[in-house]
Amino acid sequence: MGNAAPGRGRILACALAVTASAVLPAAPAAAAAPISAPPMGWASWNTFAAKITASVIRAQADALVSSGMRDAGYTYVNIDEGWWQGTRDASGNITVDTAEWPGGMKAIADYLHGKGLKAGIYTDAGKNGCGYYYPTGRPAAPNSGSEGHYDQDFLQFSRWGFDYVKVDWCGGSAEHLDQARTYQSISAAIDRATAQTGRPMVLSVCEWGSGAPWNWAPAISNLWRTSQDIIYYGQQASMSRVLANFDAAQHPSAQTPGHYNDPDMLVVGMPGFGGAQNRTHLALWAVSGAPLLAGNNLATMSADTKAVLTNREVIAIDQDPLGRQGTVVADDRAGHQVYSKVLSGTGRRAVVLLNRGGSTATITAGWAALGLSGPAQVRDVWAARSAGTYTGSYSASVPAGQAALLTVTAG
Ligand code: GLA
Repeated sequence: MGNAAPGRGRILACALAVTASAVLPAAPAAAAAPISAPPMGWASWNTFAAKITASVIRAQADALVSSGMRDAGYTYVNIDEGWWQGTRDASGNITVDTAEWPGGMKAIADYLHGKGLKAGIYTDAGKNGCGYYYPTGRPAAPNSGSEGHYDQDFLQFSRWGFDYVKVDWCGGSAEHLDQARTYQSISAAIDRATAQTGRPMVLSVCEWGSGAPWNWAPAISNLWRTSQDIIYYGQQASMSRVLANFDAAQHPSAQTPGHYNDPDMLVVGMPGFGGAQNRTHLALWAVSGAPLLAGNNLATMSADTKAVLTNREVIAIDQDPLGRQGTVVADDRAGHQVYSKVLSGTGRRAVVLLNRGGSTATITAGWAALGLSGPAQVRDVWAARSAGTYTGSYSASVPAGQAALLTVTAG
């Protein structure tokens, strides 16, 4: 019901065709928020679509804390589409339904901060937001974008206490705005807001890779989407979308600490995915050093989903301070690949053996491809055990559609 995914797919494809990346004008680069690791947290969109209220957000925040996810590093709670229906007061300030958001948006930001969490909010670069073009549980909301109000809205978000803002592109796409210039203006508006409030805001650019954001977004933002949505409203999680988004995010030279390619929010623990898919998905995001924004219902997740999301070794790979994006170092063109991410320290790699094929396969990581030599200790990360010391290479049997996650330490 609600959003027709094919329709949304059409407009995104249209955005890809119509817009071309522009070289940034010689404006002073706006500074992004001073973060040092890929953001981790939970975002409302994948499970709740536009049907969010303060009570939904509070319940998820409570579960983030009681599940141990906050203490594992998932600190952002990102309110996505649906908090606002496009209404403003006579001065142009955003107004919200206080029956759904008692005390307004400041109250929910305060609630999140009171739990030791950070608060994220959402708008669109254009005049009308995605909730106008693709209603998902609420009536179509015109004027639900920030165009014409950048300074006013970002200052408002900062004053309310938000620490993170995702800026979507449904209106921007429909109006054929220029991606690089538009997000440069948004980033500058955020800087002006921060100068007034003293509260930096993480900027999440969400134009789906349509304007080659890896070329300009690193200078003005903290993360930028590289592809279309990992899941559409009403659909189930699928490994083909996970792999498509993983592939589209491969822009390793764009990524440095504080600035990350974003293959989209996680579908770990969502309908359609079991333990093997959850582990494969999180291994791919971790080897990429991608943002880890859970999208499942935290209040009802299984113990296994919680164990996957809170696995400390996997999180440490994702959050490694070097901030590298792992790259493919071996590919037999038959669907069997090896990805390697250089980790901080000496001679340390995170390695993914990915089997995209239809049957179980033995996949080999060669030390030369990893840039290592001599004996090296191999650890099976999901099994949380040493696999032994090997010289030259390590091979493992990987089931169809799954990935093994290793660390390899030489010397
Ligand atoms: C776009 C974004 C999604 C989500 C929805 C909300 O599709 O890519 O991540 O924010 O809009 O409508």
